Amino acid sequence: MSETRPRRILLGVSGGIAAYKSVELVRRLTERGCDVQVVMTRGATRFVGPLTFQAVSGHPVRQDLWDETEEAGMGHIALARWADLVLIAPTSAHCLARLAHGLADDLLTTLCLATDAPLAIAPAMNPHMWLHPATQANLAVLKSRGVRIWGPAEGPEACGESGPGRLLEPPDLAALVVEARSGHKQPCHLRVLMTAGPTREPLDPVRYLSNRSSGQMGYALAQAFRAEGADVTLISGPTGLPDPSGIRVERVETAQEMHDRVLQSLPGQDIFCAVAAVADFRPAHAATRKLSKDKTPKPLPLEATPDILSAVSSQDPRPFIVGFAAETHDLEAHARAKLAHKKPDLLVANPVGPGQGFESAENEAWVFWPGGDRRIERMPKGPLAEILVGIIRERYEHRGGS
Ligand code: CTP
Repeated sequence: MSETRPRRILLGVSGGIAAYKSVELVRRLTERGCDVQVVMTRGATRFVGPLTFQAVSGHPVRQDLWDETEEAGMGHIALARWADLVLIAPTSAHCLARLAHGLADDLLTTLCLATDAPLAIAPAMNPHMWLHPATQANLAVLKSRGVRIWGPAEGPEACGESGPGRLLEPPDLAALVVEARSGHKQPCHLRVLMTAGPTREPLDPVRYLSNRSSGQMGYALAQAFRAEGADVTLISGPTGLPDPSGIRVERVETAQEMHDRVLQSLPGQDIFCAVAAVADFRPAHAATRKLSKDKTPKPLPLEATPDILSAVSSQDPRPFIVGFAAETHDLEAHARAKLAHKKPDLLVANPVGPGQGFESAENEAWVFWPGGDRRIERMPKGPLAEILVGIIRERYEHRGGS
């Protein structure tokens, strides 16, 4: 693709109340320099008029596979070739099922079979429909074919229920299209080493010091790198998450074990991402037998754990390093101080607190590097990870690492 022409986004709109949000999505995408053509399903036209999309996209809207004028020149094939990325937002449960089964019973599904461009879907439906085993099975099929799944978000829905099924907000979808570079990137051949999850620092065989990290952000980032073709090694603290497929996963418990495993695996890595919430302190003495109440030292003496990120920063040569910081307050000041002090090439700061960060499926981020920064709005951790991978690759290439 030429770097100078705008990115061509074929936006499919299927039937659902969230279709009105796609009008704003088109506006956001065109503002960010994309050329957008809209194809609507019959159901979608019951919610929003094609003229609205025509006005915001600046292109006629196509709905019909049997349009004699357009199809005189095999219009659907031309449209399929035109796109750099096909995004269907909203994707209804029915549309998702048709895609999974490879049906071609209208213009949109026909285009999805005829195009070489990557396909992304932004599902939006009632939470029960989303969680139904039929929908989840269809989703698994689409995932296995490399379809990008953007969302859904959780929250109150137009049907009056609350749960997973909300369309991602238009600014987030626009950011995914533009910043995740989905669709027009070359596969990446990077070797990426990551840490994720919490660590556990034993006091005795049954008690430990730890934190609330679920590991979701690190696992999502590992999967997003893998999806782009990277060779990923994940050194994970204890989490309840299954090993992501296609990724080398090594499980550890303590900060010391994580530190040792990281340094062993470091030679030859291009990028190191320190996503783990490593415990900063451990009990100075770990008893080999369970301590009774009166034998537990009070106050409990603690000692510092090894700092893995700093240990990797001081290596020569060192990989491109991405640090993470979870902050409850003064996020920008703390993040800039950590960037200067620990010297990663990039620092991703997340606000944490009630309903936010560690145990939540969603997150927001503010990314800092020497001389620049970028904010990413709140969204599910999967799409957020895709955007982060885009930014990390961009900064890595900018440093001359590719
Ligand atoms: N980190 C690490 N080894 C440690 C502690 C932290 O590698 N022993 C990494 C984390 O994976 C993360 C970054 O350092 O990438 C977080 O920096 P840190 O200063 O430890 O953050 P906090 O623990 O939040 O620090 P503070 O309590 O000082 O805010």
